Amino acid sequence: MTSPKKLYIKTYGCQMNVYDSERMAELMGEQGYEATQTPDDADMILLNTCHIREKAAEKVYSELGRYKGLKAAKPGLKIGVTGCVAQAEGQEIMRRQPMVDLVVGPQSYHRLPELEKAGAQAVDTDFPTEMKFDHMSKRPKARRGPTAFLTVQEGCDKFCAFCVVPYTRGAEVSRPAARILDEARDLVERGVREITLLGQNVNAYHGAADSGDWSLARLIRELAEIEDLARIRFTTSHPNDMTDDLIAAHGDCDKLMPYLHLPVQAGSDRILKRMNRGHTAAQYIDIIDRLRSTRPDMHVSGDFIVGFPEETEADFQDTLALIERVKYGSAFSFKYSSRPGTPAAERDEVPEDEKNDRLQRLQALLTQQQRALQNDMVGREVSVLFEKIGRMPGQMVGKSEHLHAVHVMTDGVKPGDVRRVQIVESQSNSLRGALV
Ligand code: SAH
Ligand code: SF4
Ligand code: F3S
Repeated sequence: MTSPKKLYIKTYGCQMNVYDSERMAELMGEQGYEATQTPDDADMILLNTCHIREKAAEKVYSELGRYKGLKAAKPGLKIGVTGCVAQAEGQEIMRRQPMVDLVVGPQSYHRLPELEKAGAQAVDTDFPTEMKFDHMSKRPKARRGPTAFLTVQEGCDKFCAFCVVPYTRGAEVSRPAARILDEARDLVERGVREITLLGQNVNAYHGAADSGDWSLARLIRELAEIEDLARIRFTTSHPNDMTDDLIAAHGDCDKLMPYLHLPVQAGSDRILKRMNRGHTAAQYIDIIDRLRSTRPDMHVSGDFIVGFPEETEADFQDTLALIERVKYGSAFSFKYSSRPGTPAAERDEVPEDEKNDRLQRLQALLTQQQRALQNDMVGREVSVLFEKIGRMPGQMVGKSEHLHAVHVMTDGVKPGDVRRVQIVESQSNSLRGALV
């Protein structure tokens, strides 16, 4: 008997890539590949890449450089580049690194098995009309941890002036609701208690053509009917698709967590317009206010870009003012990175030291808000979904409804259990609590 071939996948970028990597592992599992945690003993290596900022994209080539020795020692080793760099740079990747066997764009993963078998170098960066995972057999019945991602929508038609996603992931496409509900039920049967619905514009979800009138809110309400599913989250949303029914769902759907990731990027209307975001700072704040009147304990998280071309100090002050007004529970912030092919790449850049300075000031304010909201949990009783065993004997770690990590000393609690916990201390990046 031959031993199974080994597959090593290294994942960069967003949660959609994490989901895709899991599904590719399952797909290749059907071809006799078993996952390995190191490239050293792999028969196939896939780099699932991200193109969002220049640094992210360049990592691919340095990582590939490290595999030269492996390929020399094992000529049968297959090396593939998948994800958004594969889509954006295609054939160019093989020119720069001839040892690469496969280049597969994010919408063509269902073709991996046949591409793997093809002898020669292969590139597939089409945007097929059928969705990549919808004609795949159901996920294999292996037990799962308590939390899972589930992609419901892909691609983007918004074309923010700085962003590569519409080019790398293609136009906005929603998966059929029936497929998503099946996949969710299957995940729950395998032990999942919390599902995070994913999409580059997840709240633009509208179901597939010919399957009735779907929205993300309706999908969430249907998912909430799955008895053993305890929690539902979704990410990432765009302010312009934040509909009234989705806001209302935060008030009337108990399983929908009081936490929303709603990127705004900037607080200056002048910059928002140049970014082609399609809304003003006041409209964004109005959404947050309406959410909080529906669900007062709502925590908001965001994404920010500093140093977008032509951003002045006054524009930047508007961003700080918006942050002061919203009060974020967490946030991601980035220096603007010019991306080839995007409209903003043609414009004048803000000097690097100015970008660094603004990023530092922005992050100081966000960190302060994050800490304040975390400290405010002390003394409160919260619900925790336990995920895994902690570092100390007898300790378990889980997440609160607001996505805070919570450490609890407990015997008899298993991963997947949801319990009430009294928060007793706020530590640097987590909370400590005791079972109620
Ligand atoms: N669909 C999501 C975001 C996807 S990209 C949305 O609409 O908000 C994730 C984040 O990366 C973005 O929110 C933005 O903050 C950041 N980002 C995207 N392009 C960037 C660029 N060229 N430079 C710096 N940050 C960027
Ligand atoms: Fe990129 Fe804008 Fe689309 Fe988000 S909405 S993925 S930032 S183009
Ligand atoms: Fe990166 Fe592509 Fe996600 S560019 S952020 S991996 S959609």
